[in-house]
Amino acid sequence: MNGEISLPGDKSVSHRAAMLASIAHGTSIIKNFSTAIDCQSTLDCMRQLGVAIHRDINNIHVRGKGLRALSKPGDVLNCGNSGTTMRLLCGLLAGQDFSAKLTGDASLSRRPMDRIIKPLVNNGADITGEKDNRFAPLTINGKALNNIHYELPVASSQVKSAVLLAGLYAGGAVSVVEPVKTRDHTERMLDYCGVDISRDGNVITLGENRQPGAREFVVPGDISSAAFLIALGLLIPGGALCIKDVGINPTRTGLLTVLEKMGADIRIDNERLVSNEPVGNLIVRNAKLRAVDIGGALIPKLIDELPLLAVIATQAQGRTVVHDALELRVKESDRIAAIVAELKKMGASIEETGDGFIVDGPTPLKGAECSSYNDHRIAMALSVAGWTADGETVIKDADCVGISCPEFFDLVGSVT
Ligand code: S3P
Repeated sequence: MNGEISLPGDKSVSHRAAMLASIAHGTSIIKNFSTAIDCQSTLDCMRQLGVAIHRDINNIHVRGKGLRALSKPGDVLNCGNSGTTMRLLCGLLAGQDFSAKLTGDASLSRRPMDRIIKPLVNNGADITGEKDNRFAPLTINGKALNNIHYELPVASSQVKSAVLLAGLYAGGAVSVVEPVKTRDHTERMLDYCGVDISRDGNVITLGENRQPGAREFVVPGDISSAAFLIALGLLIPGGALCIKDVGINPTRTGLLTVLEKMGADIRIDNERLVSNEPVGNLIVRNAKLRAVDIGGALIPKLIDELPLLAVIATQAQGRTVVHDALELRVKESDRIAAIVAELKKMGASIEETGDGFIVDGPTPLKGAECSSYNDHRIAMALSVAGWTADGETVIKDADCVGISCPEFFDLVGSVT
């Protein structure tokens, strides 16, 4: 691994920028918008809600309609594989004066939606789903909302964000309490767009002005895609890899914290704030790693990186234990079962636990035929395992990487 690389925009930030720009007054430009298929799903849904959106390579021009001028979609809104699209849209659509139906692919239709329906319905919304209101397809009958208060039982930025987006339409007081801090892109972006929002400990409150203003958004490189390159930089002997302009929001950098504890050599330079998000360059060098214990409040800060961490742990000295990560079981696949089963095929010493996994290392991996479970992060984590393994690895349905990073294999090719 050697050289310098820039990554497409962060997926989480891009979803939010597309939604907030759509309900802003005036035209926004979103630079370095994510190339992820998931974010395309969000753009498609916003267009169906009457928003004029023009894409010029990775810059997106959005003619915002203001809070109250989205229009009833002519058809079902298809969120594809994207949990963020579906959950945030539930919030955005709860307070409209029209109804809408949301669907998704087979994976999204298996994921829990009661975590969104309950808080919104308890605060006056009318949303129903399949099988006792637990799953998509969802029907949202827009209604006037008044006071909203919700204490999240699970740490989920998607749930927090949905409640805050619904809150933009509420006539009364709005507050959300999270058990531990989760990614705060929604709060940062609302603030950047001029909405009155404040945080006191884990309580987030909306103030008087709830109309976002149009802005220029520059989306930082996606740290969750950078993670796979960081892992390769650490595991494969060679020079230094520089990943430029990556989002280093502290609610997303749990992987860097853990890797540092494991003995990694990662330097951050040119730290700055871009569109209210921390950004910097990461310089990664090959290092000898040791095992680590990961759980508690750190988990939401690296939830999407845990399958990759299982791969990294196979090359670290000692026993790595990941716990408190039950949420992994309700992602695009059951990521605990998936990564444990596939790494075993490659010779790893890894065992599943109820809410995580245990890895003993270091173990030389051997090439194997693996399943991606049609889950982008499993496919990319197994690719990293495959590149460090002896022999050939075949990953089935690897094109699912497009869900978050369509250029993944080309990017890796450009620095090896
Ligand atoms: C996301 C939040 C996380 C994360 C997902 C994207 C977001 O999910 O796993 O990939 O953009 O808000 P939860 O908030 O449900 O944990």
